[in-house]
Amino acid sequence: MTTDDLLARRFATIGRHSPLFYDEPVHLVSASGVWLTDDRGRRYLDAYNNVPHVGHAHPRVVDAMCRQAATLNLHTRYLNERVVEYAETLLARFEPQLDRVLFANSGSEANELAFRIAMQHTASRGILVTDFSYHGNTSLLAAATTGLKTHEGLADNVRAFAVPDLDAAAYAGADSDRVRDDALERVDAAIDELRETYGVAAVILESIFSTEGLPRVPDGFVEGVAARVRAAGGLVIGDEVQAGLARTGRHFWGYQRYDLVPDLVTLGKPLGNGHPLAAVVTTDALLEEFGSRNEYFNTFAGNPVSAAVGLEVLRVLDDEALAARSARLGDVIRAELAEVTGAYPTLGPVKGDGLFFGFGVFGDAAHTIPDGARTKAIVEAVKAEGVLLSRIGPTGSVLKIRPPLAITDAEVPILLGALRAAVAAVLG
Ligand SMILES: Cc1ncc(COP(=O)(O)O)c(C=O)c1O
Repeated sequence: MTTDDLLARRFATIGRHSPLFYDEPVHLVSASGVWLTDDRGRRYLDAYNNVPHVGHAHPRVVDAMCRQAATLNLHTRYLNERVVEYAETLLARFEPQLDRVLFANSGSEANELAFRIAMQHTASRGILVTDFSYHGNTSLLAAATTGLKTHEGLADNVRAFAVPDLDAAAYAGADSDRVRDDALERVDAAIDELRETYGVAAVILESIFSTEGLPRVPDGFVEGVAARVRAAGGLVIGDEVQAGLARTGRHFWGYQRYDLVPDLVTLGKPLGNGHPLAAVVTTDALLEEFGSRNEYFNTFAGNPVSAAVGLEVLRVLDDEALAARSARLGDVIRAELAEVTGAYPTLGPVKGDGLFFGFGVFGDAAHTIPDGARTKAIVEAVKAEGVLLSRIGPTGSVLKIRPPLAITDAEVPILLGALRAAVAAVLG
């Protein structure tokens, strides 16, 4: 089976609009740790995928899944200890007031449910999202999507506001507090519009603003948004689908980088290390209110196999001290990357936190012209060096480097070597 044949079969079934990375797609057949293997036996270092959080095909996670699947797998309308044990273990990672969890199968489902809870609690329908963000693919979330190349447009009850990036050329030399206050004025304007129409149900914030391109946000901006939404009667949804589980290094949840505890926290991607597992974590009061009005049931969510997988992911994270590794290796890689970007006037500063980073690529030394085409060329050149990563941001001009937390010291030089070679090949 050649790659061309497989591509033709894919187009003939899944269609041409289902996104595929790279000019020449990678045909992967297996993976282990942070390494992927293609159909020709070529190995790639995975510096992109955040779902296989503790490493691809982690033996302990696979074993926990298989053992539970061979024992019992059912929905949650019967008692099962594994599910309760997982709920207890997961909730122990949160602030005391976040003491209830509802399971789901995807980040989209979790965010949809969080909005349902918020809309019922506030008796309002107004939604605030950040500019160039993505939170999922349900009808509600599709109509609140600002951050995909093609999307259907915002619904009437949705307002988007910009997240300021202190690294942007427009803010060079600007006072950070001033930038924050100006941006918060625009949030006030969006809230005022909603108040007059739909009311304010909730804002959804992804704490690292990954789709936006990892902006360097002024101190107090996130807290300011949350305070304004709450003053308008709305709730705060912290979307931890990407930033959660120590991705940002020093904090287990990305929102803990701010002085903020959301009313609802949504989890997905890394939670099941590839197994479809997601959750909404919230307060007893909100869950009681929602639960008493709605019989919420979800066939596959929180089943014993998912619970066994989720539990093992949390245990592996602890046993292998992956949160500390995320913080330490993140710092190491960031420092080395800063040397790479410092050598090229058209590359912006290193952005991000923990094991999620990138840097902007520009057409000019003043960093006023984002260069998505060159960024794409770098992504392709890194692949030619045997490393997979991607790009983000409104113009696709920020490199997106986000390896599984299982990456080790030995793999760091491979990632950096590939990046150095690729940048040199593209920028000369
Ligand atoms: C921040 C964020 N939230 C939610 C989602 C939706 O998750 P899922 O694809 O599991 O539905 C995504 C997916 O990319 C995401 O990046």
